[in-house]
Formats: sequence, structure tokens, C-alpha cells
Amino acid sequence: MTQVPAFTDRVETPRLMDCPNWVYLLREIDSLYRFWSDGGSIPIRSHRKRVRDRLSATIAKNPHLIDRTASQKHVTAHFSRALDLGERAAMQGMARALREVKDSLTWEYGYEKVSKSLGQKYAYCEILGPRGPVQCDTLILGFVLFAPNTTYPQHSHQDIEESYVSISGAWSENNTAVYAHGSLIFNRPGDEHRITTGDRDPCLLAYA
Ligand SMILES: [Fe+2]
Repeated sequence: MTQVPAFTDRVETPRLMDCPNWVYLLREIDSLYRFWSDGGSIPIRSHRKRVRDRLSATIAKNPHLIDRTASQKHVTAHFSRALDLGERAAMQGMARALREVKDSLTWEYGYEKVSKSLGQKYAYCEILGPRGPVQCDTLILGFVLFAPNTTYPQHSHQDIEESYVSISGAWSENNTAVYAHGSLIFNRPGDEHRITTGDRDPCLLAYA
């Protein structure tokens, strides 16, 4: 008589290493914060080290992935174009890795009440943080997408520092310079910042 195996209906939540596309995307971000230049800035050097240390620790833990429902926003109609531009320039590895997880991203708004006009032109998605999909309590990584000709209003963050890295498109912060693919901007806690984007193409930034 054949022994019937005992099946259980318990489904294991996948761990990070079960999902190579997420791992490769995180490694692209790790490379960015490990090998790209700090431009000689000591605060940026320290920030980059904090990001990569926390990211490495998270990857080493191989956390369970948090299942988040994929969602689109109005601006995600520009996402393919942003990836296409990213794939032609310095950030091509990142753009290609991001394309592989494109259908799993949860696009959302940062403000509880986003103005109607900004809601049409901007959204962000987190890929690592307290809410997942890659769970981490000490770092948030994600991407923000802007439609052409967007102004993201002035704001600051009280207890967090943040950096943005250009994946594609051109943008300016506080009207002080124009940044292109590969540029990194560092905002310390309390630094006021306001973003504008170029009028021809969308702009995609990675943030930590
Ligand atoms: Fe910000």
C-alpha cells in the first residue's frame, strides 16, 4: 500500500533570498552607496556608510517578505518611459533591476491629503522599510516618480536624514542646480527642500 504524504495547508511566506529580483535590486542600491563617490563630503560619506551598513545587515538577516498589494497611481503611466531613459544612461543596472519588479510595486502618496494636481504627477513606492516588502526597522529605501513639469512643495523631515539619487530625468532642488542620472542629494534633518522637474521627461529618483 502506498503511503499518502501528509499535506498541510500552511504556506511559508517567502524570504528575501527566495526572490532573486528583490535581491538584485537591493544589490544595485548597495553598489550605489558603496562605490559611487561622496564628492569629498564628510556628512555624505557618513550617510552613505549608515545606509549600506543597515542594508547589508538586512540582507544578511534574509527577512520574510511582507506581502503588499501592488498598486498604480496616475503618474505610473510615466514609469516605463522613466525606466527606458534610465536604461540608456549611467543608472542602467538599477533601471533594469527595477523593471523586473515593476508589477509588484505599491505606489502611494506621502501626504494624507495630497492636492489633486500633485496627485496626478507624483507617487512613491517603498521597497524596504517597516512596511516592507523587505522588512527593516532602521532604514527605508524606495523610489519616487515625478511627471514632467512637477513641483513638489517645500518640506522638511524632523528626525530623519534622506538622500535622493537620480535614476532618470532632470530635476532641481531649491533652485540651486540641475541634477542628472547618478547625482546624489543629501538632506539633513530639518533641511527645507523643494523639488522641480524638467518639462520633457519624467524623473525617477531612488531615496534612502
Ligand atoms: Fe523630502
